[in-house]
Amino acid sequence: MINGERKIKKPLRWGMIGGGRTGQVGYKHRTGALRDNTYNLVAGAFDIDPERGKDFGVNLGVDSDRCYDDYQTLINEETKREDGVEVVSIATPNGTHYSITMAALQAGLHVICEKPLVFTSEEANEIKELAEKKNLIVGVTYGYSGNTMILQMRAMVEQNKIGKINLVELQYTHGYGGSEKADKDNAAQKWRVDPKIAGPSFVIGDLSTHTYYMSQLIMPNMKIKKLLCDRQSFVGSRYPLEDNAYILMHYENGAVGRMWTSVVDAGQMDGQRIRIVGANGSLEWWDSVPNELLYQPQGAPTQTLVRGTEYLDDLAKEYERLGTLHQEGLSEAWGNIYLSIALAIDAKNRGDESTLEQIIYPGIEAGVDGVRWIENCVNSADNGSQWIEYK
Ligand SMILES: NC(=O)c1ccc[n+]([C@@H]2O[C@H](COP(=O)([O-])OP(=O)(O)OC[C@H]3O[C@@H](n4cnc5c(N)ncnc54)[C@H](O)[C@@H]3O)[C@@H](O)[C@H]2O)c1
Repeated sequence: MINGERKIKKPLRWGMIGGGRTGQVGYKHRTGALRDNTYNLVAGAFDIDPERGKDFGVNLGVDSDRCYDDYQTLINEETKREDGVEVVSIATPNGTHYSITMAALQAGLHVICEKPLVFTSEEANEIKELAEKKNLIVGVTYGYSGNTMILQMRAMVEQNKIGKINLVELQYTHGYGGSEKADKDNAAQKWRVDPKIAGPSFVIGDLSTHTYYMSQLIMPNMKIKKLLCDRQSFVGSRYPLEDNAYILMHYENGAVGRMWTSVVDAGQMDGQRIRIVGANGSLEWWDSVPNELLYQPQGAPTQTLVRGTEYLDDLAKEYERLGTLHQEGLSEAWGNIYLSIALAIDAKNRGDESTLEQIIYPGIEAGVDGVRWIENCVNSADNGSQWIEYK
């Protein structure tokens, strides 16, 4: 159980790039990072607008001389200081991730970057190589993957509770992007439908990369062999990007699966669902009911497993925070991701590779894999929605 006591000797000196006052995801980073004595926010280039960024940073309690106009100045100035940042989080639009991540790694900083990590596998592998060369950690913030019931699912699959996996049902949909008006009025939506900034996909990268990563976290041995993706833009001006996609998967072990990802699922408020069907039973989790996991053994009554309870696996209990009586959600999941990444950075800094191997967190492999997932989906869709070998 996590109770806020320090798990590493000293909090990491942490900086943020992006995630400013108007940014959608910045607060999620801070709510994740600033709860377990593992990070102190000491610097930032929070905003594309330097003045607004400085004003915001000062209001967060960061010294004004450490609120920088841009990321290059942050990296240059902070690396000159003895007490400069050790790790930076990157919460900027997708098209900036590659250059900022490379610059930070080059300067010897650990990185926590938003998804999708970059646009191409080539770029993702370059980041991986540089991180390895520099002995640095790259974490990728797949939000809900720190949820304890996801870890419970992983433990139950590993313990063969549902038998051989045959079917994988994945969904991440909502209805907030259903109109052209949203593209014009909402700054965070505007860049998401511009291929120069969003990359080769809209919803596949923006939403399904989360669910794909979580499915791999739950079933690390299930590798995709073939895939077919059919993508559409119901709001036509988004073409060639998609606001809806259906993806069929064949796994190497003979299992089949499908992913539905969409921002035009009108009326859907919170639709991330993972259902894993084995030969002897099924497991199902929805992010709108994140404290519960449905376990349906074939031929026996359905069980609803509840977060924080004694009967859960040690892995789920290790990341428990509030106890049985209360609800945990996205913020705690982010807390768990940030904590795991801090432990990974600490182990890396101490050269403790055997501890590092035991830590479950979305690292550079997860970043590279997410980019591969997008590439394969887009490749299939743009070639007549054909089945393709997963590369
Ligand atoms: N992990 C998640 O759950 C999750 C949720 C939402 C967004 N995201 C990802 O987070 C990233 C940001 O998305 P968002 O929705 O917060 O975008 P946004 O447009 O709402 O916010 C972007 C922020 O970055 C700042 N910014 C832009 N360019 C900058 C630069 N060069 N230097 C410094 N600051 C800069 C902006 O001023 C703003 O504060 C994207 O990669 C997106 O895919 C992840």
